[in-house]
Amino acid sequence: MFINRKKELDILDAYQKYIHSGKQIHLTLFGLRRMGKTELLLKFKEEYGHKGLIIPYLNIQKIVPDLNNFSKQFLIELLYESVPVAKRFDKPSTWDDLLVFATRVGEMEGTYLLKVSNILSRRTVDESAVLDLVFSFPEKIAEKHHLKIIYIIDEFQEILQIQKNILRIMRAITEKQKHVNYWVSGSVFTVFEELFGYKNPFFGQFKKITLSGFDRGSSHELIDWLLPLRLDAVQKNILHDFSGGQPYYLTAICERIIQEYAIQKDMNRNIVKYCILQELFGETGKINEHFEYLMDVSLAKFTNKDLYKKMLLYLSQQPDTLSGISQHMNMPSGEMSSYMKHS
Ligand SMILES: Nc1ncnc2c1ncn2[C@@H]1O[C@H](COP(=O)(O)OP(=O)(O)OP(=O)(O)O)[C@@H](O)[C@H]1O
Ligand SMILES: [Mg+2]
Repeated sequence: MFINRKKELDILDAYQKYIHSGKQIHLTLFGLRRMGKTELLLKFKEEYGHKGLIIPYLNIQKIVPDLNNFSKQFLIELLYESVPVAKRFDKPSTWDDLLVFATRVGEMEGTYLLKVSNILSRRTVDESAVLDLVFSFPEKIAEKHHLKIIYIIDEFQEILQIQKNILRIMRAITEKQKHVNYWVSGSVFTVFEELFGYKNPFFGQFKKITLSGFDRGSSHELIDWLLPLRLDAVQKNILHDFSGGQPYYLTAICERIIQEYAIQKDMNRNIVKYCILQELFGETGKINEHFEYLMDVSLAKFTNKDLYKKMLLYLSQQPDTLSGISQHMNMPSGEMSSYMKHS
């Protein structure tokens, strides 16, 4: 069940009204990991997808991020969403399927996609030409159907892995378009900020929304919905205060509470706290697992992973100065300082 997010949905509703009235609204949705960005965007798509808008959704993290895959998936999602639900046939997954699908949808679509796939199948691929065609296609679809498009791109921080000039090309094409809007989301704040920073093509072009944790009332609502038993208000507040209203943490702890209730046939504040600790530190704790995943993903970018792990572990136990850290790591402070600047 989708809980609340009323304020954010109201903002998105206002933006889609602007879009209907002829304005263009590009949007970034930022929120820390597992805060509910994808849920919110999919909720918007579900609610508004059939109200005079075409809303394709693409999650870059779910594809192998290269030019071929991105182009294919971007076009599949777009074309699929442009067909009215009642007339949709199976969603294509390969280029061949996509070409057949496009030809069935219409002559313009078939010819256009053949052009893209032809360039991609050449021995030396003109990458700019491919991206030009890919990003130009939504406007053609919008014009054909006399509809506005909101293209949602989730995990947008991965975009530069596809092609190094992709933002510049995307910007050059989209600034000429009237009916296409990009709503993008991301969770790695530094990367995301940089993508929209003053050095990059999209600087100043996107409105920003930040997604934070649930308010107390929404946390209570989520807990009540997840649990087959009723917690009292104090117990629910313990969960809310610990999680900061982060829906994924709340979900993980509630699953633990269900398990613990089945064993102990009782529920009280201490058991609630025990469940939190199990999730946080227990080997099977989902929050623990999530932290490990975050650390692995963050450290994967460094060649010297073990060194950073050791350093972080030390700092998590006691904050220290540079000379203290260098001493602990048995390393000259100059070298330590340069490692820390790269982290
Ligand atoms: N509005 C909501 N109502 C109910 N549950 C929610 C809501 N938002 C998030 N959740 C819960 O939190 C989990 C994480 O949400 P979601 O996947 O949308 O987060 P995210 O910000 O996209 O995460 P990531 O950064 O990993 O992509 C969901 O699987 C769901 O269990
Ligand atoms: Mg997500």
